[in-house]
Amino acid sequence: MRIFVTGATGQLGHEIPSAFAGHDIIPGIRPSFDLVDERSVRSAIEAAGPDLVIHAAAYTDVDGCEGDPERAFRVNALGTRYVALAARDVGAALVVVSTDYVFDGTKGEPYLEWDEPRPLNIYGRSKLAGEREALMLHGRCYIVRTSWVFSPNGRNFVKTMLRLGRERTALQVVDDERSSPTLAGDLAGAIARLVARPVYGIYHLSNAGSCSRYEFARETIQLAGLPTVVTPVSTAEYVARNPLPARRPANSTLRNLAGAALGIELPPWRDALRRFLETHHL
Ligand SMILES: NC(=O)c1ccc[n+]([C@@H]2O[C@H](COP(=O)([O-])OP(=O)(O)OC[C@H]3O[C@@H](n4cnc5c(N)ncnc54)[C@H](OP(=O)(O)O)[C@@H]3O)[C@@H](O)[C@H]2O)c1
Repeated sequence: MRIFVTGATGQLGHEIPSAFAGHDIIPGIRPSFDLVDERSVRSAIEAAGPDLVIHAAAYTDVDGCEGDPERAFRVNALGTRYVALAARDVGAALVVVSTDYVFDGTKGEPYLEWDEPRPLNIYGRSKLAGEREALMLHGRCYIVRTSWVFSPNGRNFVKTMLRLGRERTALQVVDDERSSPTLAGDLAGAIARLVARPVYGIYHLSNAGSCSRYEFARETIQLAGLPTVVTPVSTAEYVARNPLPARRPANSTLRNLAGAALGIELPPWRDALRRFLETHHL
C-alpha cells in the first residue's frame, strides 16, 4: 500500500513506518502540507496517490485550544474536512485519529463506541467536529479514538513525570481524572491490523485497563527507580493553585468493543509503560 500520513512528526506519526513495514509511507509535513490551507492538503494527497490516508495531525494542546477556539476548529474540524475530501477524491481509505475527550466523563464506566459524545472543552468539541466531517464526507472511514498517548517523541505525561521526578523530591498528581495510557507504538500496530479489514466505523483503541493520573505517575516513578514521593490531590485543589483553562473529563476510559470483535486488542497499559521505560532510557 501507499500510505499518506498526516502528523508524521508527532508521537503517533513517528510509529507508523515500523507498524506498516513493507509499505510506502508518504509523510505530510508543514509547511508544504498545512491543515489550514486546503490547497496544500489537496495537492500533497493528490501527488502521493495513496491507497490509505492516516490522519494523525491535530492541534493537540488542550489548553491552547481553549484559548484559541478558532484555530482549534480550523485545524481539527476544517482540516479534517479537507483531508477527508482529498482522500475520498483520490480513492484512498481514511483513518481519522480522535480522542477520549469527546466524552464528558460522567458515565461512571468505560465509554462504548456508540455512547453519546458530550465534550467538555474546545479541543474535544473540535475533534468531534472533525470526526463528523469525516463520517459525512467519506464512506470508507475508520474513526479511531484513543487516550493519554505516550512515546519517546514529543511532549507527554510520562516524560513530564520523569523530568519532574528528577528535579523534585515530591510530586502531587490529580487522582480524580481517569483514562487509559496508550503507547503510540501499540496504537500504530493496532491501526495496522484494523485497516486490513474493510469494516469502517468508530473504534476505541487504547492500552487495556485504566488508572488515575496519580496511579500513572506513581507507576512511572516506581518503574524508573526514582525516589520521588508521589501523593494524590483532587483536581479542585490542584486547579486552585495551578489554573488550567480547559476542563478535563473525570473518567473518559474507552471500552474497546468494536475492535475486540475483530480480534484487535492492545496489551495492558502497565506492560506498555514497562516496555517503554526498558527500551528508552529517558
Ligand atoms: N496525545 C494524546 O494524549 C492524545 C490523546 C487522545 C487522542 N490523541 C489524538 O491522536 C492523534 C495523534 O496525537 P499525537 O500525540 O501523536 O500528536 P502530537 O505529538 O501533538 O503531534 C501533532 C502532529 O500534528 C501536526 N500538526 C499540527 N498542526 C498542524 C497543521 N496545521 N498542519 C499540519 N500538521 C499539523 C504536528 O506537526 P508539527 O511538527 O509541524 O507541529 C505534529 O506532527 C491526534 O489526532 C490527537 O488528537 C492524542
